[in-house]
Amino acid sequence: MTVVPSDLDAYLTANDERIRRELFDLLTIPSVSARSEHDADTRRAAEWIAGSLRSAGLAATVHETAGHPVVVGEYRGAPRGAPTVLVYGHYDVQPAEPLDLWTSPPFAPTVRDGRIYARGSVDDKGQLFLHVKALEAHLAVRGTLPVNVIVLAEGEEEVGSPHLAPFIEAQQDLLRCDAVVISDSAMFAPGLPSVLSSLRGLAYFQLDVQGPAQDLHSGSYGGAVVNPAMALARILATMHDADGRVAVPGFYDAVRDWPAPVREQMRGLPFQEETFREETGASALGGEQGYTVLERLWTRPTCEVNGLLSGYTGEGAKTVLPARAMAKVSCRLVPDQDPRAIERLMQEHVERVAPPGVRATVTALHGGRPWRAELDGPLFDAARRALAAAFGREPVITGEGGSIPVVGDFERVLGAPVLLMGFGLPGENAHAPDEWMSVENFTKGMRAVAVLLEEMGQG
Ligand code: BES
Ligand code: ZN
Repeated sequence: MTVVPSDLDAYLTANDERIRRELFDLLTIPSVSARSEHDADTRRAAEWIAGSLRSAGLAATVHETAGHPVVVGEYRGAPRGAPTVLVYGHYDVQPAEPLDLWTSPPFAPTVRDGRIYARGSVDDKGQLFLHVKALEAHLAVRGTLPVNVIVLAEGEEEVGSPHLAPFIEAQQDLLRCDAVVISDSAMFAPGLPSVLSSLRGLAYFQLDVQGPAQDLHSGSYGGAVVNPAMALARILATMHDADGRVAVPGFYDAVRDWPAPVREQMRGLPFQEETFREETGASALGGEQGYTVLERLWTRPTCEVNGLLSGYTGEGAKTVLPARAMAKVSCRLVPDQDPRAIERLMQEHVERVAPPGVRATVTALHGGRPWRAELDGPLFDAARRALAAAFGREPVITGEGGSIPVVGDFERVLGAPVLLMGFGLPGENAHAPDEWMSVENFTKGMRAVAVLLEEMGQG
């Protein structure tokens, strides 16, 4: 069995405290990509990552885009014939609100019970940084890397990576590689290293319903003027049938069957639907009939309301017929659904079902393609050995309900296989108050990556 080489292990152990301090430094930067008041912080995080790559021994450049910058680190000194590995991660984070629900402030990292609490600890600064430290360990101890490495860190993942696909297309020569490695997901359970076999895609919309030119007295006009809030509710109610299937015509046309061996694997995972329900705090689970919870999450597309706004929502009562209503709606997609095609279907559907008397419009906000891995070849064999060396057991193959929009673009543009090997854990509160990353997974993650680099160099 492969083990973590003692020189790399010793280096990481000896530098443990400093590495933690550096990570905390990164976690104090509020690089919230969605908020323009944090633009300077987001840029500071990009510069910080570039600095950290340079001190690890890579060349690093901060590239401007029409949005937040892209950081590219490079090491091209591997032995002749060694492959080139591209490591992708994101240095931006989700907004931290609601702040009063955090036990300690989101940008003041703290360790409690073996967990690093901070916004971005696991999604994705901690996971990006552990790659940088694995590279540093190799370069510090051995003076070289066993593979050529490109580190690509973006600052817009949490807002749908609007400028990254064009960047990759424009920089194909710079980014040409043999494999892409990403740590921006979770392990299936503590102590159970995991390799992802799929990600869902996303098509995100805003649905606006405009009625009268302005708010009206609900007594003087109600009953005679179409109410946009009710119209919106009726439109949304047409989006599912009684069995929990999405009822937008054509929605499932491109859905491909899931390979039987992958579904078999899924059924073998240790998963209790009742425990999952309890963790959510919901009184019952729902969804599409005929599928298990894991199948619903990983293999089936959805249509969900993410937000609703209309009329009077303040204290007490106000008798008003609102002029407009708005919903944020997102569809998670599975192979081979195309976000653009879903956008068109949604537009046509809303146009068809909107009642007369209101104007309903669908605006696409962002999207990303679904992805499914080919799980064989040297990259995955190397990952299996590396995870086994660091965690003491072979990884399981899992799926994922979330999205990383750029993954499909990497395969399409660079033609390289993508390995998703994440070190988060269930219940890590990504995007929520009290986000955390396990100290143990951070520590073992650095070692797993260090071994992976070595294994890939020998392939
Ligand atoms: N790290 C997540 C992707 C992810 C989500 C992995 C859930 C594992 C479990 C990533 O940062 C993310 O949140 N992606 C967004 C993409 C969206 C903003 C386009 C998502 O899935 O909502
Ligand atoms: Zn995220």
